[in-house]
Amino acid sequence: MAKTEWFETVAEAQRRAAKRLPKSVYSALVAGSERGITTEDNTAAFGELGFAPHVAGLSAKRDMSTTVMGQAISLPVFISPTGVQAVHPDGEVAVARAAAARGTAMSLSSFASKPVEEVAAANPQTFFQMYWTGGRDKLVARMERARAAGAVGLIMTSDWSFSNGRDWGSPAIPEKMDLRAMLRFAPEGIARPRWLFDFAKTGKVPDLTAPNLSEGGGPAPTFFGAYGEWMQTALPTWEDVAWLREQWGGPFMLKGVMRVDDARRAVDAGVTTISVSNHGGNNLDGTPAPIRALPAIADAVGSDVEIVLDGGIRRGSDVVKALALGARAVMLGRASLWGLAAGGQVGVENVLDIMRSGIDSALLGLGSSSIQDLSANDLIIPDGFRRDLGLKDRAL
Ligand SMILES: Cc1cc2nc3c(=O)[nH]c(=O)nc-3n(C[C@H](O)[C@H](O)[C@H](O)COP(=O)(O)O)c2cc1C
Repeated sequence: MAKTEWFETVAEAQRRAAKRLPKSVYSALVAGSERGITTEDNTAAFGELGFAPHVAGLSAKRDMSTTVMGQAISLPVFISPTGVQAVHPDGEVAVARAAAARGTAMSLSSFASKPVEEVAAANPQTFFQMYWTGGRDKLVARMERARAAGAVGLIMTSDWSFSNGRDWGSPAIPEKMDLRAMLRFAPEGIARPRWLFDFAKTGKVPDLTAPNLSEGGGPAPTFFGAYGEWMQTALPTWEDVAWLREQWGGPFMLKGVMRVDDARRAVDAGVTTISVSNHGGNNLDGTPAPIRALPAIADAVGSDVEIVLDGGIRRGSDVVKALALGARAVMLGRASLWGLAAGGQVGVENVLDIMRSGIDSALLGLGSSSIQDLSANDLIIPDGFRRDLGLKDRAL
């Protein structure tokens, strides 16, 4: 690969991803559903929150280390699971290495392109993410495989409503990369020679399979085969959440919580961590940004469970805003994918460095010596910003 040039913002990483990736791969990362109201709000909401910086008496030392899911991490940012294929030949292994190099954790999607064994070997702080697909026996088999590979936490994602239309169009993704598909997609690949060259060097084409969903050491199912199985699986109940948590036994995150009543049920089910998240706007369009739902959830269950947030994080100051409103840490979805597309492992390290320096600047300006000192008093919160979802005594 040509030498990757440093970039100063996630916006620049995204521009490079758009230039470098074939159109259909790029648009699979843009994602979102229906009108895109939620995806848009996820980033816009951070822009509504302000800071009131100090001018002197600032802290020379600023600590941003913390723990999440039992893991010590050097900054309150780690990688969210994303089941995306074909961004880069090293895929999730490159992301895991970058996270390890920057002292933080990796979450691996069960729809990812690399086996959990390779990813956990690249980053011992790997969490494995599962959807409720295939039924209990298959779930346990996958979970045990991840445990044997060294995964140190389990993430259950259940905020998915199989919405499949977007006004700006969904990418055409082939069932598998056979000769016919390669010929069909050849013009896109030729228009993006660097991406093509990166894959050509490995001697492989993106194979669009889900190796972490193979059964009993058998062949990996195709991405769409695995998606079909998921669509046909009976939907999980709260008892199923508690059951899976018990099977795992260790740190367990329920990802996709947006309502106070669901957060309380998650606590009752024994989960150790929740992620306030709307799946990056890929679920039910019209769901507000997680940062709006966070304060009510933190008020209700903040002392009972670890709370993280994902959705719309593009800069270090976004991280500081989420922490000030009650999150312990945040996860990066698209920001890490843009970094991966822009520069492989180095690109993801670059994104994590942007987060670190942005957090540091915000702490400096706020006169805080540690992320532990942050509170809502550090922010300017406009009236009506909060969305207190799922409070029994109130209409939404
Ligand atoms: C292209 C794409 C694929 C994703 N795949 C998964 C997945 O397989 N499992 C999962 O739990 N979340 C998945 N997510 C959601 C992310 O983990 C995360 O919740 C979301 O991207 C956060 O928003 P952000 O992209 O604005 O950071 C995906 C998101 C995107 C954009």
